[in-house]
Amino acid sequence: MPPLTPRRPRLAVLLSGTGRTLQNLLDRSSDGRLHAVVAGVASDRADAFGLQRAIDHGIDARCLRDTSTLWSWLAELDVDLVILAGYLRLLPIVPEYEGRVLNIHPSLLPKFGGKGMLGEAVHHAVLAAGETESGCTVHLCDEQYDHGRVLLQARVPVRPGDTAAQLAARVFTAECEAYPAAIALRWAELQAARPPGD
Ligand code: GRF
Repeated sequence: MPPLTPRRPRLAVLLSGTGRTLQNLLDRSSDGRLHAVVAGVASDRADAFGLQRAIDHGIDARCLRDTSTLWSWLAELDVDLVILAGYLRLLPIVPEYEGRVLNIHPSLLPKFGGKGMLGEAVHHAVLAAGETESGCTVHLCDEQYDHGRVLLQARVPVRPGDTAAQLAARVFTAECEAYPAAIALRWAELQAARPPGD
């Protein structure tokens, strides 16, 4: 018989900046809206504020720039899913973690994605293109920036007269719902694909 309460996935969050997405995941895992444990946080930048947020929560947090050191640490932590949360590097994925690395991007991919499409630049491009809607995309990662199977998209309207900052804030509100939902979805897919008795 499968366990009545499914195991919580162990997450590692990788970031390069302020860690707003990390904060959302921490808030939701502590109040039960996200059934997961943040086991570790790594950044490619020593000054990333997200590292401090992790330390404040008593979470193992490290600045790791070397990819093979990073993967060894993730394996040591025994993480189930690797969650990119404003991580600016292209991460080469080792075979053991294929299908287990997720990213969130603040546009409706494939529009407005790819190398250099970061932060407010994305929202400026959406406004310049005269789009009437935008949103966010959670996807599995592969060897290209902002590329891989889409797990979930959430849409928001672009309002007349919007500034990039206003649009960014609306998209980020959608991200805060979409990322936890996509994590739960991917974990359920992986659990369902496990061989019986595993
Ligand atoms: C998120 O908005 C996400 O779309 C993108 O990075 C942002 C989070 O970065 N991938 P940060 O926490 O504000 O540094």
